[in-house]
Amino acid sequence: MTIIDIITKKKNNQELTYEEIKFAVLGYINGKVKDYQMSALLMAITINGMTEQETFDLTEIMLHSGEIIDLKNLYPVIDKHSTGGVGDKTTMILAPLVASCGVNVAKMSGRGLGFTGGTIDKLESIGNFNTSISIENFKEQVKKIKVAIVGQMGNLVPADKKIYALRDVTGTVESIPLIASSIMSKKLASGADAIVIDVKVGNGALMKTLKEAQDLANLLVKIGKQHNKKVVCLITDMDEPLGNAIGNSLEVIESINVLKGKGPQDITELVIKLASYMVSLGKNISLDEAEKQVIENLKNGNAYHKFEELIKYQNGNINNIKISDKVITIKSKEEGYIAQINALELGELARILGAGRLNKEDEIDPKVGIILNKKVGDYVKKDEELLKIYIEEKTVDEQQLHDCFKIIKDKVDKNKLIKTIIN
Ligand code: URA
Repeated sequence: MTIIDIITKKKNNQELTYEEIKFAVLGYINGKVKDYQMSALLMAITINGMTEQETFDLTEIMLHSGEIIDLKNLYPVIDKHSTGGVGDKTTMILAPLVASCGVNVAKMSGRGLGFTGGTIDKLESIGNFNTSISIENFKEQVKKIKVAIVGQMGNLVPADKKIYALRDVTGTVESIPLIASSIMSKKLASGADAIVIDVKVGNGALMKTLKEAQDLANLLVKIGKQHNKKVVCLITDMDEPLGNAIGNSLEVIESINVLKGKGPQDITELVIKLASYMVSLGKNISLDEAEKQVIENLKNGNAYHKFEELIKYQNGNINNIKISDKVITIKSKEEGYIAQINALELGELARILGAGRLNKEDEIDPKVGIILNKKVGDYVKKDEELLKIYIEEKTVDEQQLHDCFKIIKDKVDKNKLIKTIIN
């Protein structure tokens, strides 16, 4: 078997065997398969797709390319994942909220490329917060306080690390089987018993259409079944940013507001739904009963207290969250209803302000970002505030920020946040 035969077979749209996929993936990790050969194979997969069997095999091979965390002593552990989008800060809210309902959440999160940071970058905008702890201490923490959020540790799914970095620079990110195997190999390696996945759809997301999002969700659920793990996918809107805050410290502050029951309506609605599925799976109770507990814990302060406990346990100082004091208000030049907010472009502008990275080595400035004063469906008067930007060294063109909003005369409905649920 040679890598050229494998690339040619996929180029001709034929199904690869388990052995052929293993040869390509393991060969790539150990350097026998070169970057240019793997790039060609990934492009052939992106164009011709993969059968379900090929996707199951790829997931299995990637999963076993490194360490697998054993969380059996903490059974049941419920994980969550989001395919990502602008203003998506749900992990910071969900982890303590679900733990406050009595369910173990052992969460490994990443840093971000593009837009704003990942969950780990966001949490590190809390003074002194420690995101790098040993696997033993991680498990111990979950046992004690039911929740931990840490950066990637151990040698989990090295195949995905290497292949994802290559996909990022070869135009092969948006392949549904590649995305599904990438997500599920990591989730399975992190040891959770059930996983709730927020599959984002819209202009600011990887999946641009509902059909693509449904295909991805169906595949994620099927891979879960193969491994005896319950997977629930919520397909949710990413045509406008989630919540009002974009940027690391600003998103932490908004998360605290949600945990205190004072957050924006859209993100509050989403975390209640996601948390209800996590609690229902973790406690084996009905979704209605789980939702009651989730709402109660947002109201009675338990969710916020769990967040405080989490931050303190990981050495963070919740009173030390810095935001920039250089603030510019962008006012509307017209009057009417907000019909669209370009999430992708706002994310890109937030990145230019310093809230995200273009390259892995770039430093994030936690203090900068954007606060939206209007969302889709709202009415805006001329000269009324559309948004604020929090800046340090870099700024962006005010007209470009204004152009992210499409304002029309006719009344507009709010975006439907939760499109469908697949499990
Ligand atoms: N998120 C992942 O973890 N992998 C992908 O391929 C895309 C999004």
